[in-house]
Amino acid sequence: MKKKLVVLTGAGISAESGLKTFRDSDGLWEGYNIEDVATPRAWRKDPQLVLEFYNYRRKNVLDAQPNAAHYGLAELERNFDVTIITQNIDDLHERAGSTNVLHLHGEIFTMRSERNESLVYEIKGDIKLGDKAEDDAQLRPNIVWFEEPVPMIEEAIPVVHSADIFVVVGTSLVVYPAAGLVNYANPDIPKYIIDKRVPYTSDVYNLTAIEKPATEGVKELVNLLSR
Ligand SMILES: NC(=O)c1ccc[n+]([C@@H]2O[C@H](COP(=O)([O-])OP(=O)(O)OC[C@H]3O[C@@H](n4cnc5c(N)ncnc54)[C@H](O)[C@@H]3O)[C@@H](O)[C@H]2O)c1
Repeated sequence: MKKKLVVLTGAGISAESGLKTFRDSDGLWEGYNIEDVATPRAWRKDPQLVLEFYNYRRKNVLDAQPNAAHYGLAELERNFDVTIITQNIDDLHERAGSTNVLHLHGEIFTMRSERNESLVYEIKGDIKLGDKAEDDAQLRPNIVWFEEPVPMIEEAIPVVHSADIFVVVGTSLVVYPAAGLVNYANPDIPKYIIDKRVPYTSDVYNLTAIEKPATEGVKELVNLLSR
């Protein structure tokens, strides 16, 4: 039976595909304060700005291509039972061929009713003010904003808990509850963290830090795991 490999990814894995992270540069996301575009308050105050921000993000993602880190994780499916838990809203893991991807914070290519989170639709173009769901409520990006609950965390916790190997790639480990997932991994299993600037992690046992860009770091991980 294949070993269960669980990977938690963040914005850093998509950086080399040209999609910007925010915390490692200037505390802004593509020039915006997070509070102005990615919170329920922002949506109430200026929905037009929020829609424009995510419409632009959607275009960026459409133009981007998976990089060697996404492909490397997809290839690990040959030898491992891989689950990817991503904080990313892009679809680069799927486009690289990963078949088991859990999106903690939503997906840029879906939208939902602002009133009913179970009314979800695919979207490749723009969402405009006045675009309505079937319950007649305004459509919004199907993204978990800061300060909103993260329902998928309930699904993610047992996945991490059951891992034989746990890997973290390209996340600053400051956004909760995602960052807390690390603590659900069994202390005895091998753990790897790949980041161009590895975040401080105390009390995580059996941890190998690979301080490299994601593309190089995943290549190194694949080599280590094939030994
Ligand atoms: N691509 C996306 O979908 C995207 C992009 C930006 C932000 N976000 C959202 O922002 C939140 C941010 O949390 P986060 O921890 O994912 O991101 P973050 O911006 O807080 O942290 C990014 C991390 O990636 C590392 N990093 C940057 N470039 C790297 C590279 N080339 N190789 C390896 N590591 C690199 C940084 O050192 C940092 O630790 C998430 O909720 C996510 O949904 C998503």
